[in-house]
Amino acid sequence: MSDVTILAIESSCDETSAAVCHNGKMLSNVVAGQAIHEQYGGVVPELASRAHMQNILPVVDSALRKANLSPEQLSGIAYTQAPGLIGALIVGSSFAKSLALGLNLPLISVHHMQPFLCLTVSGGHTQIVLAESPNQLKILGETLDDAAGEAFDKSAKLLGLPYPGGPLIDKFAQSGNPKYSFAEPNIPGLDFSFSGIKTSILYFLQKQQKENPDFIKENIHNLCASIQQAIIKTLMKKLKRAAEQTGIRRICLAGGVSANSGLRKSFIELGSKHGWETFIPAFEYCTDNAAMIAITGYYKFLEGEFSGLDVSPSARAAWE
Ligand code: KG4
Repeated sequence: MSDVTILAIESSCDETSAAVCHNGKMLSNVVAGQAIHEQYGGVVPELASRAHMQNILPVVDSALRKANLSPEQLSGIAYTQAPGLIGALIVGSSFAKSLALGLNLPLISVHHMQPFLCLTVSGGHTQIVLAESPNQLKILGETLDDAAGEAFDKSAKLLGLPYPGGPLIDKFAQSGNPKYSFAEPNIPGLDFSFSGIKTSILYFLQKQQKENPDFIKENIHNLCASIQQAIIKTLMKKLKRAAEQTGIRRICLAGGVSANSGLRKSFIELGSKHGWETFIPAFEYCTDNAAMIAITGYYKFLEGEFSGLDVSPSARAAWE
């Protein structure tokens, strides 16, 4: 097969994104954020669906323009079928299906956690996945409560920082000293838990603020560094255990939280200590984006793995 051009649409959460890839090479990757959620301190699913409806046409149009292509030049339409917010997924999937139907092109459903990875850390997911091939993925461990990104965002909220707090914790942590320690989760196996860390931070702050109401303001850098370190420590402990248990040394870091500078550093250090071959996507591919849907769509296209129009989006992370 010589020329394969995939248009991909991603709408699993609060970014509307479209990408065009030609023979596996990215020609464009357009991402529109949704500022509406800032005032609520988190993603409001119904507002996300409405913003996707407003964004989707200009985003797809812009991705095609940047790629310098017309819809008639496409070979297939890939879209995020799962997992994510159901209303948000329905907007992207309905749009993708309509395009596929209108242009008479194959429709390719993509599970947006599908690229080869081991540790996936985002606002909605924390998983250690064994990827045997792009189509054979096994979840070895996942969070029992909050996701790593949520742990960052909720801790940031406790510090009075705006949503999403993860990048701000990262920023302040860079000039801080991780001098405070919080309760370490004690979950057996490869699963994670972050709710205990969050509660431990809350009690610690309440206690300190009783003595000094300006405690947070005066110690924001050290607090951020300590919170970041606590989250990273848990992630690295389980990742190391997974590598030991499986004997796998090619390890990837993915998801929005993989943008965290402290996590990247710890991951690379742990990798070089244990002789792992480590992979981290370029920054622009770390948060929700359609390029990951496009590349998976490309492989599925090559396999002839197309979807009927009756396939439903799914909010669950399990591969169904
Ligand atoms: O993958 P992503 O874009 O998708 C989801 O919405 O699930 O991840 C977003 C998450 C948010 O929780 C955000 O706070 C976190 O990734 N994040 C970070 C950083 N950049 C983004 N967390 C810590 N440090 C960062 N630099």
